[in-house]
Amino acid sequence: MLLEENVSLRPYNTFGLDVTARYFACFASADELRELLQLPQVQAADKLILGGGSNVLFTQNYAGAVLKNEVMGLEIIAEDPETGTALVRAGAGEGWHGFVEYALGQNLSGLENLSLIPGTVGAAPLQNIGAYGAELRDTFERLEAVEIATGLLRIFGTDACGFGYRESVFKKELKGQYVVTAVVLRLHRTPRPNVRYGAIAETLAALGVAGEPTPHDVSRAVVHIRRSKLPDPAVVGNAGSFFKNPEVSQAKFDVLKAQYPEMPGYLVPGGVKVPAGWLIEKAGFKGLRRGAGAGTHGVHDRQALVLVHHGGATGRDIEALAHDIIAAVGQQFGIELHAEVNIL
Ligand code: FAD
Ligand code: EPU
Repeated sequence: MLLEENVSLRPYNTFGLDVTARYFACFASADELRELLQLPQVQAADKLILGGGSNVLFTQNYAGAVLKNEVMGLEIIAEDPETGTALVRAGAGEGWHGFVEYALGQNLSGLENLSLIPGTVGAAPLQNIGAYGAELRDTFERLEAVEIATGLLRIFGTDACGFGYRESVFKKELKGQYVVTAVVLRLHRTPRPNVRYGAIAETLAALGVAGEPTPHDVSRAVVHIRRSKLPDPAVVGNAGSFFKNPEVSQAKFDVLKAQYPEMPGYLVPGGVKVPAGWLIEKAGFKGLRRGAGAGTHGVHDRQALVLVHHGGATGRDIEALAHDIIAAVGQQFGIELHAEVNIL
């Protein structure tokens, strides 16, 4: 729980950007967090709670205190035979994929579609993580969070979290006010395979799975798809999808579809969701490299929604590229992209 000064954050962000934090400390429990919050240096400073650093872009050194969540623990806290569910509590510092594997190992289903998402359990509610037809809120029961101003523990149920597509109250009204210390999910004892997302069924067939897939099969398929599309941050710096997929009105979609008949779109309440990866690819950015030599940063060549750091770029370089993409997509399609990644 040592408070260090001028610490490099390079190992702590998946873009691999070499910035420093004025103060840096890890905490392994809610009490350790409270102790840190009472230190005069921390009290006086801006505070950033960091998990795995897989959804942040540092554009400058962080002048405040970075507090890294290392609250561990995985535990089944209740069984409900009537509904065939179990409540599982995870410490917020646990790795998300480790939690998914723990659930699978306990014969609990509900998280398999969210396999291999990087980062920690505690950050998962922040943007209601989602992938391959599932979202955190589908299994969410409650979370425990410490209020930064008072040190008090508060329990948030689903309604209080205000979950939306890559959204929660913790990114809006309560931004920067709470530290999530544990999450409780309700998982199923009877497997409920969710293979609505087309690529999963195709991949299961390609992997030779016939008949009803098990949760392990679905997890294996999701891991397979993700590895084929998304860059591994251990190899090339990135934070997953840099932008959210935008939603447009049906009328606007019809106009664009007349101009671009191959444009994909998915009906959502109130409009149509358009894949930002398609828009960025169409705008000519896919595989782009910028910077010295073979390029220091750019756009992933297999997934245009992912901005990548090859080495030698700054966060500002990546932010400038993001601005150029927003401008180009805005000009060509009249659609405004919004960052999913937290830009600091
Ligand atoms: P960090 O990057 O450390 O933090 C993210 C934000 O949450 C910051 O604002 C931080 O201050 C805040 N925060 C973190 N922990 C806490 C806490 N305990 N209490 C309060 N605030 C906190 N996301 C998806 O939804 N779906 C995907 O399919 C997906 N795929 C990805 C693939 C790759 C290759 C990568 C690199 C990222 C992907 N992401 C995806 C994004 C990312 O993994 C998730 O957003 C993840 O939940 C971030 O976790 P983290 O611990 O790394 O958060
Ligand atoms: N597409 C292209 N070109 C590209 C990329 C995508 O044309 O370069 C089009 C294709 O039509 C494809 C469609 O976009 O069918 C959707 O692509 P994909 O299935 O890869 O999903 P995505 O919409 O790009 C979203 C999430 C991911 C999540 C996947 C799977 C957002 C912002 N991103 O990506 O989440 O893993 O679906 O469910 O919603 C993240 O949030 O960091 C993330 C990786």
